[in-house]
Order: sequence, then structure tokens, then C-alpha cells
Amino acid sequence: SGRDVARRVADLTLDVPDFPQPGIMFKDLTPLFASGPDFAATVDTIVAHYGRDTFDVVAGIEARGFMIAAAVAYATGVGVVPVRKVGKLPRQTLRQTYALEYGEATLELHADAFMNGQRVLVVDDVLATGGTAEATLNLVEQAGGVVAGFTVLLELAFLKGRERLKPRSVHALLTV
Ligand code: PRP
Repeated sequence: SGRDVARRVADLTLDVPDFPQPGIMFKDLTPLFASGPDFAATVDTIVAHYGRDTFDVVAGIEARGFMIAAAVAYATGVGVVPVRKVGKLPRQTLRQTYALEYGEATLELHADAFMNGQRVLVVDDVLATGGTAEATLNLVEQAGGVVAGFTVLLELAFLKGRERLKPRSVHALLTV
């Protein structure tokens, strides 16, 4: 059930203090990814939440979002599109620069990544300040896509990222 999966996310998330900078408590979900049954349950829960007819394609945010996005795409038979750190995509891109919890970052998306009106499920591991997700929302919309929802494994509610994404649907397996 969703509650069981939330418990597994909690149990398999490691808090790493002062990474990547002093004062930041990094949420390391690699133990969840590394556990076959828990990773499968995670993907199944996302698919069950959104169903198979609410999105046409999945977008994964570099880097940990890629792993979840690819699995969700495979499970639902749709394609997967990468939202990448600057300088990685080879063809014409759209760009968004945004403030991170630590520093700033720029994300890119291939300008022709989506067909007009294509419904895009955006996937990442953690929703913190929401800067990354909001930049991705802007990129998807500039590319002609429609965000069907955001799904993350872990939401840090005290950073209020969800509020930056209103009125879109935000689904978190675990909110702390
Ligand atoms: C982390 C995380 C999200 C983002 C969330 O990525 O995977 O993408 O930060 O933070 P926000 O809601 O405050 O924007 P990170 O920048 O560490 O990149 P990585 O996955 O490539 O290591």
C-alpha cells in the first residue's frame, strides 16, 4: 500500500549532514534505488497514482530523476525525455536558470522534446525548494508540453516547494 511504500522510503533514505555544502542535510535515496523490491514498489505506486491514461510521456530531471523516470516510462509504455544540467544536450535547447537551496543552476531541454499539447509527467527524487521543478515546468511549457503532474519520492514540506507549482498536481510518496 501507499503507507507501506512511504515507510520504506523513510527507512531507506539516509540523511547526510553538510553535503554538498555546510548546513545542507542531503537526502540520499540510493539505498531505495538499490533495493529491487522497494524500487519496484516505488514505481508501481507512482503508476497506480497517476494511472496509464493521464500522461503521454515522462520527463526525468538529472540525475536521480532519470532512474525513476525511465522505470515509470517502461512500466507504462511511454517514452522518457531528459531534463539536463547545462551543456549536456547536443541539439537546440531551451534554458532556465534558477536559485538552488545551495547556489544556482541551469537546466536545459531539447526544444523539440514534446509535441504540442503532449501531457508530461515530471519525475524527480526530491522536492525541496521547488526551484528545480519550477524551472522544469517552465521548460516543458516553453516546449509546448502540458505538465500532467509532478511526482517525487520525497517532499521536504518545510521548504514549501509545492506552493511554487500550484495549481499543478504534486504527488510525493513521502512528505516530511
Ligand atoms: C536535487 C534533487 C532535485 C533538486 C531538488 O538535485 O535531485 O533535483 O535537488 O531541490 P529543489 O527543490 O530545491 O530545487 P541536485 O541539484 O542535487 O542534482 P543531481 O540529482 O544531479 O545530483
